[in-house]
Amino acid sequence: MNTKTTTKPTRNPEPDYYADEAELKFLLYLRDIVVEFDGFRALDIDAFGIFHNELRVIIGPNGAGKTTLCDIVSGKTDVTAGRVYFDGDDITAVSETDIAKRGVGRKFQTPTVFDSLTVYENMELALPGRQKVIPNLWSKETRDDRDRILTMLERVSLLQALHTPARYLSHGQRQWLEISMLIMARPKLLLVDEPAAGLTDEETALTAELLLELRGEHTIVVIEHDMEFVRQLDSRVTVLNEGKMLADGTMEKVQQDPQVIEAYLGR
Ligand SMILES: Nc1ncnc2c1ncn2[C@@H]1O[C@H](COP(=O)(O)OP(=O)(O)O)[C@@H](O)[C@H]1O
Ligand SMILES: [Mg+2]
Repeated sequence: MNTKTTTKPTRNPEPDYYADEAELKFLLYLRDIVVEFDGFRALDIDAFGIFHNELRVIIGPNGAGKTTLCDIVSGKTDVTAGRVYFDGDDITAVSETDIAKRGVGRKFQTPTVFDSLTVYENMELALPGRQKVIPNLWSKETRDDRDRILTMLERVSLLQALHTPARYLSHGQRQWLEISMLIMARPKLLLVDEPAAGLTDEETALTAELLLELRGEHTIVVIEHDMEFVRQLDSRVTVLNEGKMLADGTMEKVQQDPQVIEAYLGR
């Protein structure tokens, strides 16, 4: 085809172009992102994309900008410049609540389960649309809801603790309950910040197993410090350092990167 003679207008390289690109390939796509706090540049990213059903691990030293990255995706923090695309839409200016409704689930470092409620009651509250109407807690959930709750709890070995108030759970069990609660909302993207922090070796291995199982049904971004845990996840790793993407690839590859060794692993 001779394209020389066509007079198609030049495509505007601004948002529309990026939205197309984002829609084609990625569930999450960050472009030309800058985040500054009082002039301090916490994030400076040219381009960053997460594929559908990918499990991506983000590592980096303290203060690298890992949590800030989650914050701009979930809408907790505004970008100073750049655009965030999710599921083909520009969500840069969308509110935290609406981003959650669009399918971004966020797990924070500290579990946010309700201590006085049982495991089952916490799960009921996590069903879509339940949060706002407390009396609904005592209304009959559908058989489908109940099946989903029990299936998920079986997966994380919490069936025996169904009627146990959450305050009696171990740290690991609380983490799994919280991940299970997030799954109830069927998020397209799950952001998980340091899920292995404070866990025993056995709990860490079980958490890795759970995340690997959930991959394929959900797209997952895991932020992590624990190198043994990262190895168990055996997924693509992105290294952040001083707000910038330093390296990307398999754990073996990034571990051998001299820049990474200097910035992080060699410390
Ligand atoms: N709300 C904020 N106000 C000011 N500085 C912040 C804020 N949030 C993060 N920072 C700074 O940005 C940098 C990156 O922080 P963070 O994203 O929490 O790093 P990480 O999660 O990789 O440890 C740090 O230097 C931190 O002090
Ligand atoms: Mg952090």
